[in-house]
Amino acid sequence: MPVMAPAPFPSHRPRRLRATPALRDLVAETEVSVTDLVAPLFVRDGIDAPAPITSLPGVSQHTVESLRREVGELAELGIRGVMVFGVPAVKDATGSQSCAADGIAQRAIAALRADVGDDVVIIADTCVDEYTDHGHCGIVDDQGRVDNDATLALYTAAAVAQVRAGAHMVAPSGMMDGQVAAIRAALDADGHHNIPVMAYAAKYASGHYGPFRDAVDVTIADGGDRKGYQQDWRNGREALVEVAADVAQGADIVMVKPAVAYLDVISQVRDMVDIPVAAYQVSGEYAMISAAAANGWIDGDVVALEHLTAIRRAGAGIIMTYFARWFAEGAGGQR
Ligand code: PBG
Repeated sequence: MPVMAPAPFPSHRPRRLRATPALRDLVAETEVSVTDLVAPLFVRDGIDAPAPITSLPGVSQHTVESLRREVGELAELGIRGVMVFGVPAVKDATGSQSCAADGIAQRAIAALRADVGDDVVIIADTCVDEYTDHGHCGIVDDQGRVDNDATLALYTAAAVAQVRAGAHMVAPSGMMDGQVAAIRAALDADGHHNIPVMAYAAKYASGHYGPFRDAVDVTIADGGDRKGYQQDWRNGREALVEVAADVAQGADIVMVKPAVAYLDVISQVRDMVDIPVAAYQVSGEYAMISAAAANGWIDGDVVALEHLTAIRRAGAGIIMTYFARWFAEGAGGQR
């Protein structure tokens, strides 16, 4: 038998599987589903009409009434989760409205729960920066530092108030050490053994939160930042330490935040844990896509879908995203 000449190319040629849209759909590894998405929503005390947020085009600070309409529409569109952020009329040093039974977030959560029952998972952001006059995520000591352990009492009180109001899940976002264990214990003590905790486990001191701070009217006092409690973006392995700590404390879901600049972290966390992994595509990520698209510099529909897919591909099963409604409405018809 004559020996066959070697093929000029390796016989595996990936382009064979890219020939038609149907073939591409057939072999696609990753699909973003509307049921993976959580819409972050803002409700503000003391306004009588929704107030658009300039740096988050298409997103508003809601009244309780307009929030109810929005969530009703999102439910109709198939969205399964909303994350509620409250903006109080009055802020103070300890963020006391975060745990008041009649605080804006609690009133909004109660109204939503009455409207949607269990059809949509109502997630409460459990933090205090939206409520403090200095803009930090906790109690500030006389040196200007955030006091970790004193802050835990605020978080537990807020979590209990949110769950009593009707939240299905709480999501502590303040990056205090021990916050998951403290909240778990407080919820259990109040009889809420079945309420899961979604931990913002690996949260970076990112430049991508700017528009969010407009959305919740937060300015950090004295030109401060959150580098003393949120993670340094030079560190990837440290995120795994944070995640392991939260899992050990009883987190039911762990989150990485922001998303696209931290796909490596999402991927490593996905490999490490066997509980659900979430990612938060934050305000600045949304704003960058929106602004470039508004200038005609990119096709916003394509890039938004590309980013959501990349976050999913990296391993996040749940995505908090300001694109939730847009996606549920048909994702710009793109694929
Ligand atoms: C803190 C919190 C922040 C975000 C969610 N929770 C801001 C921060 O840490 O400064 C940011 C979300 C976004 O940018 O979309 N409570």
